[in-house]
Amino acid sequence: MKVVIVCESMFGNTEALADQVRDGLRDLGVEADVVEVADVQDEDVAGLDLLVIAAPTHALSLSRPTSRADAVSQGADPRRARAGVREWLADIDRYLPATAARPPVAVFDTRVLKTKHWPGSAAGRASRTLRHAGFQVIDRMSFYVEGLTGPLADGEGLRARDWGAELPESLRRYRVRA
Ligand SMILES: Cc1cc2nc3c(=O)[nH]c(=O)nc-3n(C[C@H](O)[C@H](O)[C@H](O)COP(=O)(O)O)c2cc1C
Repeated sequence: MKVVIVCESMFGNTEALADQVRDGLRDLGVEADVVEVADVQDEDVAGLDLLVIAAPTHALSLSRPTSRADAVSQGADPRRARAGVREWLADIDRYLPATAARPPVAVFDTRVLKTKHWPGSAAGRASRTLRHAGFQVIDRMSFYVEGLTGPLADGEGLRARDWGAELPESLRRYRVRA
């Protein structure tokens, strides 16, 4: 089984969780890697059994160039603002054409813990975009940070590792239901 996690992260929290999800998969012997969204090459997403997309929530949704610039003004490395999941999804036909076999997708985001009850999240937006484009979204999850720049809320690293380790079973259950 081959899985790639396409990850956007301005302050490193989503990336740290993507590494945990990868490790949860690797614990099961799954071939899993994390690729920064700005660096994805066509071959990275070829022949996947599962694509995972990870992004921070900005303004109740996926980031935009303006919100990433805002993050840079609050201390994020400008290199992390080069590209976002929103733009990558807008171009996804280039990487995964509708005419070819497309992998199922799982999506997670990060959000600030104290806004847990707010509607709207990066994963919600990404799931809708993916479904609209014809992808099967098998699972969607939010993980929490304490504040805008982090750190991760208590236990979230472990929860992400467990979520990663459960993805093959989530995929199996999805296939049985479909
Ligand atoms: C411009 C901007 C807007 C944000 N809007 C939201 C929001 O609507 N809801 C939320 O829970 N967190 C929001 N956040 C906090 C981010 O979710 C947080 O910075 C992110 O989860 C940290 O992950 P990262 O280190 O991978 O970037 C916002 C952050 C920025 C920079």
